[in-house]
Amino acid sequence: MTELERQKEYIRKAAGLVQGRGLRYFVVTFGCQMNERDSEKIAGILEEMGYLPALQESEADLLLYNTCTVREHADKRLYGRLGVAKQIKQDRPGMLIALCGCMMQEAEVREKIRTSYPYVDLIFGTHNLYRFAELLYERLSEGRRVVEIWEEHRDLLEDLPKRRKYPFKSGVNIMVGCNNFCSYCIVPYVRGREYSRDPKEILKEVEALAEDGVKEVMLLGQNVNSYGKGLDRPADFSGLLSEAAQIPGIGRIRFMTSHPKDLSPDLIHVIRDHEKIARHIHLPLQSGSSRILSAMNRHYTKEAYLDLVARIREEIPEAAITTDIIVGFPTETEKDVDDTIDVIRKAGFDGAFTFQYSKRTGTPAALMEQLPREFVQEQFDRVLKCVQDTAKERAGRFTGRIMEVLVEGVNEKDPAMLTGRISQNHVVHFPGEGQKPGEFIEVSLDECHGFYYTGHVVKPTGKSC
Ligand code: 5AD
Ligand code: SF4
Repeated sequence: MTELERQKEYIRKAAGLVQGRGLRYFVVTFGCQMNERDSEKIAGILEEMGYLPALQESEADLLLYNTCTVREHADKRLYGRLGVAKQIKQDRPGMLIALCGCMMQEAEVREKIRTSYPYVDLIFGTHNLYRFAELLYERLSEGRRVVEIWEEHRDLLEDLPKRRKYPFKSGVNIMVGCNNFCSYCIVPYVRGREYSRDPKEILKEVEALAEDGVKEVMLLGQNVNSYGKGLDRPADFSGLLSEAAQIPGIGRIRFMTSHPKDLSPDLIHVIRDHEKIARHIHLPLQSGSSRILSAMNRHYTKEAYLDLVARIREEIPEAAITTDIIVGFPTETEKDVDDTIDVIRKAGFDGAFTFQYSKRTGTPAALMEQLPREFVQEQFDRVLKCVQDTAKERAGRFTGRIMEVLVEGVNEKDPAMLTGRISQNHVVHFPGEGQKPGEFIEVSLDECHGFYYTGHVVKPTGKSC
């Protein structure tokens, strides 16, 4: 029996315990798109077993938190939520609480949950997520707490059921793990070594999604630019992206995340030459100071980064470039932050996520002397202001243009309005004329309101993908 058959067998066995009881599940996802995708796998398995989605945590018979540990803030949020979950469980005897995701890969976290959170019923990690059916069955049939964590992945089982959050768009994992060991980052320790999926498998998954009505896919990996290393038959990301862009039915392809050190000229050309590939590149800068970049183990300089941005702008002038920035890395001075601000001004980012450095135990940077909080806050405020000013300057650049929009759904605040996104990832709100989520239409971007546009429908694009 293959592992896949084994897990399907456990889904059937668990279904015998679940079906007909009207049991409901609720999944809370912290962190990145990869966790979002993992949660879709968990939801798919649960629905196959016969669990129904709950509308809120307090109605759940199975409450699962898929955790993130990239910054300390994410850890704190989980502990806060667990306090609330405890209250819910007191009112709903028999309810199960499960934890998974990156935080569970940390030994101290597991120890803390084991000793201080006895009401947690099931704990598993990132590498054995595909064994969820078996682990839950064990918990359901034996009635005792189940904990299973692996230190490394052994298998990548992607063929299990999935319950997509959106019918018209989906993430697709192309690789797991990270080999870069940026000195501040915990990801390589909790997600393990880089491992690429076979390109044929990936393309098959994209084809199946297209047949299932998906119009937009996002290829996911911690560092998609190093995709293909270690595969039996050589493959690279630009080749994969180009093939995926030619799959009939898919109208738009995104990818996340790029590492500047590995972004090849070929990739820039592939994006330029395929209009289905989104005009959006997320290119984490982290710092604009070459000295700090070296201490961060990023393998590029301020000048190399700016040069890369210039090449992208030259080949794909329409592209939106967004970034991640960390402020307060150990030893960072005001002058280093000046360099970061200089890059923000010169690169003209369309958006940036700005983070205060967060010390992660086990990483090399955690052993360095940490900077005073007030100093970091001051520098962070400077960077944030610069990011906001530049984004504001850039924001209106598509005003007055007619652009292709993928309709995502009804506006949350005003049901007469629809919401969609342009290729550059900007959100657009416009009065609906009966368009459905998943449709491509042409919208005139009439007004820019900082981070989003308002506009009106011009016509369907007639795009048959
Ligand atoms: N502290 C602050 N930000 C971090 N990131 C990763 N690790 C840390 C850390 N220890 C940020 C980086 C990365 C994004 C996903 O999270 O900017 O690109
Ligand atoms: Fe972390 Fe660097 Fe890997 Fe990104 S590339 S996940 S920042 S170690």
